Amino acid sequence: MFKQMAEVATSGTVALYVDGKQIQVAADQTLALALMQAGVTPLRHTAVSGEPRAPLCLMGVCFDCLVQVDGRANVQACMVRVCPGMRVVLQHGARALEPQA
Ligand code: FES
Repeated sequence: MFKQMAEVATSGTVALYVDGKQIQVAADQTLALALMQAGVTPLRHTAVSGEPRAPLCLMGVCFDCLVQVDGRANVQACMVRVCPGMRVVLQHGARALEPQA
């Protein structure tokens, strides 16, 4: 973890869009870390109770970091790296169902 933080400090920043608002985050890190460092929390609200959730395990186990990325729902933010221009939408409740073909 500390090695990764040292690498991030020298690799610059990228611009993301979170709910349409542009933020600058350190490059070469996961989306979950980038969002937490930018103060974006909670990342989602549960479908059943509406309780807020934020990244917990940071290794793809808890699913508390689900967000919509570039139009794709239920992406685990801790399992993807940030990309320039990435569009993130925070999820509130259950995701919309895909239209039936
Ligand atoms: S933080 Fe647990 S799955 Fe992403």
